[in-house]
Amino acid sequence: MTLRQAQDTKAGSTSTARHVAIIMDGNGRWAKARHLPRAVGHQRGVEAVRSLVRAAREMGLEVLTLYAFSTENWSRPEEEVSALMGLLKRYIMADLKEFVENNVRLQVIGNYRAMAPDVVALLDDALAQTAANDGTTLVVALNYGAQDEIARAAAKAAAKGEITPEAISAELDTAGLPPLDLLIRTSGEVRLSNFLLWQAAYAEMVFTDVLWPDFTPDNLREALEVYAGRDRRYGGR
Ligand code: IPE
Ligand code: IPE
Ligand code: MG
Repeated sequence: MTLRQAQDTKAGSTSTARHVAIIMDGNGRWAKARHLPRAVGHQRGVEAVRSLVRAAREMGLEVLTLYAFSTENWSRPEEEVSALMGLLKRYIMADLKEFVENNVRLQVIGNYRAMAPDVVALLDDALAQTAANDGTTLVVALNYGAQDEIARAAAKAAAKGEITPEAISAELDTAGLPPLDLLIRTSGEVRLSNFLLWQAAYAEMVFTDVLWPDFTPDNLREALEVYAGRDRRYGGR
């Protein structure tokens, strides 16, 4: 975003966030605390996603972006990676009808086309079925790494002959979405872990100790209240 765009956004802004992104962390620790397998933590994590997506739609949030699988998460044990892929497939299959019926538009950021062919096919079908929806946009970050995203965008911008912040922004996976307003991370970790590095330039951040499976719509409402109380200055005064 240029300075002018930032100022325009500020001038026209209410204290309502349009675009919220969440680093959903802490499934493993949630399970460990209960002497359960990590996969159970991930399963409960999906349930938290389901209720949060419903709540986001009901509260009229424009865009909810969820960090589901990073480019670095491939380094986890194969058993855990395949459990996560299985959960992703089951979630999309189970909830697609609900997205279609409730005007939720699905979008994916990250290099998801490099994932397994059955996952790619399932996602492409879900994207097509919800493409015309204009209610809440649910953006799922899959095989997503911000450095990978920025490198891909820069290469595309260079191929078109112009490497400027605006040209790179226009080639990011998030092109066309409203600017990121609020970034939330659960589980007490205070880092970005390669998520939305470019888009977070002027986003507000909220870090909470709540582990992802315990995160409720009320926790989202609380974060939105914190956001509403923030003074976004964009470097101006
Ligand atoms: C987040 O929970 C889920 C993914 C990264 C896919 P973790 O699995 O990272 O849980 P912790 O951080 O080990 O508790
Ligand atoms: C970030 O969580 C990735 C997702 C939530 C998908 P990680 O658990 O992978 O991050 P680190 O390893 O703690 O930085
Ligand atoms: Mg983690």
